[in-house]
Amino acid sequence: MSDEIPFQTIIEPFRIKTVEPLRRTTRARREEALRQAGWNLFALRGEDVLIDLLTDSGTGALSANQWGMMMRGDETYAGADSFYRFEAAVKDITRLAYVIPTHQGRAAERILFGAMVNRGDIVPNNTHFDTTRANIEYRGAEALDLPCAEGMRRADAPFKGNIDLERLERVLSEHPGRVPLVMITVTNNSGGGQPVSLANIRAAREICNRHRVPFFLDACRFAENAWFIHMREPGQGGRAPIDIAREMFSLVDGCTMSAKKDGMANIGGFLALNDEEVVGRCRTMLILTEGFPTYGGLAGYDLEAIAVGLYEALEEDYLRYRIRSIAYLADRLAEAGIPMISPPGGHALYLDGAAMLPHLAWSDYPAWALSAAIYLEGGVRTCEIGSVMFGQQPDGSERPAARELVRLAFPRRVYTQSHVDYVAEVLMRVHAKRDRIGGMRITQSPPVLRHFMAKLEPKVPGLFAAVPTQVAAATR
Ligand code: F0G
Repeated sequence: MSDEIPFQTIIEPFRIKTVEPLRRTTRARREEALRQAGWNLFALRGEDVLIDLLTDSGTGALSANQWGMMMRGDETYAGADSFYRFEAAVKDITRLAYVIPTHQGRAAERILFGAMVNRGDIVPNNTHFDTTRANIEYRGAEALDLPCAEGMRRADAPFKGNIDLERLERVLSEHPGRVPLVMITVTNNSGGGQPVSLANIRAAREICNRHRVPFFLDACRFAENAWFIHMREPGQGGRAPIDIAREMFSLVDGCTMSAKKDGMANIGGFLALNDEEVVGRCRTMLILTEGFPTYGGLAGYDLEAIAVGLYEALEEDYLRYRIRSIAYLADRLAEAGIPMISPPGGHALYLDGAAMLPHLAWSDYPAWALSAAIYLEGGVRTCEIGSVMFGQQPDGSERPAARELVRLAFPRRVYTQSHVDYVAEVLMRVHAKRDRIGGMRITQSPPVLRHFMAKLEPKVPGLFAAVPTQVAAATR
């Protein structure tokens, strides 16, 4: 037994070697920037954003060790040393037989679904990410979300990201031959960044075995998921995250991965799987659209960054800090009574836009309005996960998303505690004037994945009504 007493303060487990200035803007400039962007935060220029919580994807800081190995990047077209180092790292962690590099996660999805999914098929998942859903629908198949019931409840639960096992069993029984694969997304990004338990993955594996259906992980945030299992699942506290990760991967036939998340890289992804016949078809498509199988759309130095990053993402000190920094923000917001999904996720905190702006209907796009208000207030960029992102149906109609969320996703190893304190202050200021925030309307919309490119405008000029909007509505 160690006699060392653990410290209460969880520190950033790194020091800073290279710095990048933050750029401040005035409120007038931000209003102008929003107007130029068609009130779509995706269309803002980086220089107009102070703290960027749009995504944790590809936005992290590289380590000295990654930069060091990147200098060893071998840019040989075929058979580069960098590929073999990358492949060895992926195989060491996943123990899957074949590894196909891709330029990012959605390329791995497109290639996998191109090889396995046909028109009329159904692909269940705990919750599909938007690119996963779009790539399945592009094949003429149905992307079916089966989140567990506690995931949608307000009460805390340790594994709100789990898949609903009963419904999975039912879908597989009722549609024999129509389900080419089942997926589980760890952590469940669109469902609030919530983790999935080992027990749930194991049970889903058994169901898939019984129905002889291949089972895949969308593994983008596998290391954060492993940490939640370490912290929350009975009997797992003594295990290292890497061992838990290995067990997660041992339960699946393959995975798609965006290395821009827990690969700790700025670009990259992969597809890893055991079925030799499917791999053959995937490689043919890879050569057509990504590149030769030993680079798959990446430079040698990208492969090196991922080979190192996958292990860094699994370090306990890093994971403890990572998960704590988001929980810290959640604690501050909870004290202020700001509604959010609880507990917070691994990579992000999700504000509940519908609860915060009850005077708005879903067709006012409350989460979109809230994210615009947060940017206007303090230059903090977030991302709507609500009816602008999910309301658009393949047949062109609209229906409300299950929830109206605003995601604050944290880049890895980028922001410090004072940045988080600033974000909390911005949110408290927005919360204080929430009843003046008006709705949004869409003025221009592309046919799919509209949230990236749509243009909107506030129903109240400048977004904030002079008098509370309930009062304004009552006197109209
Ligand atoms: N799967 C999940 C669960 C994701 O979160 C993402 C990306 C992808 C697949 C696609 O990977 O971006 O490398 O092509 N999520 C980012 C986000 C974009 O902001 O959550 P990609």
